[in-house]
Amino acid sequence: MKSAIEFKVNGERRQLEVEPWITLVEVLREILHLTGTKEGCGEGDCGMCIVLVDGRPVNSCLMLAVDVDGREVLTIEGLAEGGRLHPLQESFVERGAVQCGFCTSGMILSAKALLEEDSGAGEEEIKRGLSGVLCRCGSYKKIIEAVQEAGEKMKEKGRR
Ligand code: FES
Ligand code: FES
Repeated sequence: MKSAIEFKVNGERRQLEVEPWITLVEVLREILHLTGTKEGCGEGDCGMCIVLVDGRPVNSCLMLAVDVDGREVLTIEGLAEGGRLHPLQESFVERGAVQCGFCTSGMILSAKALLEEDSGAGEEEIKRGLSGVLCRCGSYKKIIEAVQEAGEKMKEKGRR
């Protein structure tokens, strides 16, 4: 039997009827066509499916869609504002921190949650904050530099 759920995705209210076993990543990709969220392992190990739920990073492959009822979800598609990229997106592009791009949305959303708590996070804090996401292309050095640079931009611009 399906359950009715209502939640916000990228600021937009959505009402859906979902099977009790369907996961958040399946809803995002297959029903809402927000394919910026990637599914890698499907078992909570790679972090490629990370989105923010009420501002906190969550592995969307492990979260049931029924559990987002009444909550707010942010995916990579919701990060740019008024046609302008988020400082994290800008820095990832400028620093060349993207290779295949499969880990990028999980990295950027994890970094957003981290920098909102501490925009001056240093290398060690960034490594810890991003430790839930694996980059199989090995772009870690550039990713860390991009996050540090974005933190400086966010501090300057007072942006979240
Ligand atoms: S796909 Fe969710 S953690 Fe790997
Ligand atoms: S850029 Fe390919 S997995 Fe990170």
